[in-house]
Amino acid sequence: MSLDLAVHEAFVTLTGRDPDSIWRAPGRINLIGEHTDYNDGFVLPFALPQAAYLAAARRDDEVIRITSVDLGEQFEATLGELAPNQDGWHSYLAGVFWVLREAGYPIGGADLALASDVPIGAGLSSSAAIECVLVEALNDLYDLGIAPMDRAKLARRTENAYVGAPTGLMDQAASTLCTQGHALFLDCRSLEVQQVPLDLAAHGQAILVIDTLTRHSHADGEYATRRADCEQASALLGVPALRDVPIEGLDERLATLPDERLVRRARHVVTENQRVLDACAALRADDLARLGELMTASHASMRDDYEITEASVDLAVEVALAAGAAGARMTGGGFGGCVLVLAGQSRLDAIGAAVTAAFVESGRAAPATFVARPAAGAGRLT
Ligand code: GLA
Repeated sequence: MSLDLAVHEAFVTLTGRDPDSIWRAPGRINLIGEHTDYNDGFVLPFALPQAAYLAAARRDDEVIRITSVDLGEQFEATLGELAPNQDGWHSYLAGVFWVLREAGYPIGGADLALASDVPIGAGLSSSAAIECVLVEALNDLYDLGIAPMDRAKLARRTENAYVGAPTGLMDQAASTLCTQGHALFLDCRSLEVQQVPLDLAAHGQAILVIDTLTRHSHADGEYATRRADCEQASALLGVPALRDVPIEGLDERLATLPDERLVRRARHVVTENQRVLDACAALRADDLARLGELMTASHASMRDDYEITEASVDLAVEVALAAGAAGARMTGGGFGGCVLVLAGQSRLDAIGAAVTAAFVESGRAAPATFVARPAAGAGRLT
C-alpha cells in the first residue's frame, strides 16, 4: 500500500473520521557541502522521493494524538505537558507543537497518523522529514501563513531545542524548499537560495546511493565536538564564522592555530565551501566530470581533515571509483550511512555489484542501493 493511503487508513482507525488532508515532506541527499551549514557556509542538497507522510486534522482541544504506521505505536499528550529533551520517536512531532507555541503561533491540538520510507540513521534526514511534514500541516490547518524559510527554521528549532541535536539548517531547508529536478544552493548566512537544475539523465549520468547500513550511535556527540572545534577555530582566527576565512592564503592563516586538529577542521570547512561554489559552476557548465572530482575531493577532506567517515563508507567510495565512478562521497552527518556515486548510467550496475562484492568479501552485509532523482519539497498532497 502506498504511504499516503497507509496514513489515511491509520488515521481513520485512530479517530473514526477522515483527516483534513495528507502532507508529504521528503528526505534529502546532500550533493556536496558537508558540515558547512553551521559555519555560515554553503550547501547543495536535493530532495529524495523517499518521504514522511502525515494525515492530520485539527482538534478543538489541546490534545495531540499520534499513531505511527511504521512502529504500530501511539502517543497522546496535552500541549501543556510537552517539555524538551524527551526521548522517543514522537519527540520530532511533539516538539513542533512546542516550538510553534513558543514562537507565539495560535495552535491547538491535532490528530496525526505518520509513516515514512526515509531510512532512519542513514544520513538522509529522516528526522527533518518528520519535523517538516508537521510544520507544513499545522501551517495549513491553522492558517498560520508562515513563509517557507521560516517553516524550515521552526523545524530546525525543533531538532535543536526540543530533540536536543545541535544541527544546522540544511536538512529542514532542503525538505521544505527543494523543487523537483533541482539541487538547492543555500547560503546559510544570507539564507539566499538558488534552484540549480540537476538533469543528470540528459547527460547519460545518474546518482547511485549506496546505504552502507552502518549506523553510529555516538554520532551526536561527535557532531557536537566538530561544532565546538569550528567555533574555537573561528574565535582564534578572529572571524565570526569559518565562512569568513578566505581560501587564498589558507595554509598561512591556519598555521597560526595552536593545534593541528583545529587546522584540519578549519581546512575542511573552508575548502568544502569552495567546492560547493565550484560544484554549482560545474553544474551550470554541464561539466559533470568536474562535479565528480569535487565530490571525491570532498570525501577525502571529510576522511582526512574532518575525520567523520569510517571504514564502510571509505570502502564503498574506493570501490565505486575503481569500478569507474566519476565521483563518490559520503553524505550527511557522518560515521556511516550513505555514499552517493556519480556515474554513467551504463556503469551503475557494475559499480553496485563491485561494492556489494567488496562488502560481502570483507564480512559486511550487502549494502542497499537506489538511484536518486531530485524530487519535490514538502507540501500538501490532497
Ligand atoms: C546533519 C545536520 C545538518 C548538517 C549535516 C552535515 O545532517 O542535520 O545540519 O550539518 O549533518 O553536513
